[in-house]
Amino acid sequence: MKVIKKIDDLKIINKKRPIALIPTMGNLHEGHLSLVKQSINLQLSPLVTIFVNPLQFGPKEDFETYPRTIKQDKESLEKEKCEFLFLPEKSEILEGIKKLKAPYSNFLCAKKRPGHFDGVITIVNRFFELIKPEYCFFGQKDFQQQLIIHNHLKENKLSTKLVVGETVRDENGLAMSSRNNYLTQSEQKDASIIYKYLQEIADQLRQVRFDSSKDLSMGALMICEEYKNKFEDKDFEIDYLEIINAKNLEKSKKDDTDLLIAIAVHFKGVRLIDNLRCDLSFS
Ligand code: PAF
Repeated sequence: MKVIKKIDDLKIINKKRPIALIPTMGNLHEGHLSLVKQSINLQLSPLVTIFVNPLQFGPKEDFETYPRTIKQDKESLEKEKCEFLFLPEKSEILEGIKKLKAPYSNFLCAKKRPGHFDGVITIVNRFFELIKPEYCFFGQKDFQQQLIIHNHLKENKLSTKLVVGETVRDENGLAMSSRNNYLTQSEQKDASIIYKYLQEIADQLRQVRFDSSKDLSMGALMICEEYKNKFEDKDFEIDYLEIINAKNLEKSKKDDTDLLIAIAVHFKGVRLIDNLRCDLSFS
């Protein structure tokens, strides 16, 4: 694996196109590595970036303490036969950066973390400009993020194709996240209730859709209220739990069929997000 630190040295990647850009903040887990694997299966050259992006952290968030595990990350990437690792220096990457505003600022995480996605799209756009990847890979766990990237590529008529990798879960169903490392093993096990409840919510939604006497948007609201209480009983503090249209993140309407159940919670002081896409087109 070639490790690139300077923007000038990115020239080397031109010999190995098509490139699959996989932007990360490091502390790599199976979720990230599955994107590397997927890109290799598609005969692309994976280029992973590791950069803890200060622009996407709020003043009271965990930028300083965010886990930095470069040595371990390099080993994992070597094992996966990753082609390139880009480890830019903060000063070089941020100097003169064009600050962008992200859409969907009134929805989900954007409401709770003002400016977060502006920081994300600003840095990802910088990578797009420098690397001009043929493909970029993002995880479905960060649903709003991948939607914003999708929108950015489309609006700016960029030729980079977006591939969204499925959420990778541990053996109990907890979605992989670097922030899981802030929890003990037993807390991680307790946190896996998030996925179990998401599945139950999806089952209930299907029942509502089946029952023609029930209104879907009203049913969705009632289900969310019921599960917010269930989460709170188990010591989760809810940031949001919403059933929304997966295409535009708007509140679900009567005839919507492509729904997303999206959740963010604080558990033992750690913010966790997850989601489940729910296809109701069968009924
Ligand atoms: O998903 C992440 O880890 C970050 O938001 C990203 C895409 C690497 C941008 O800093």
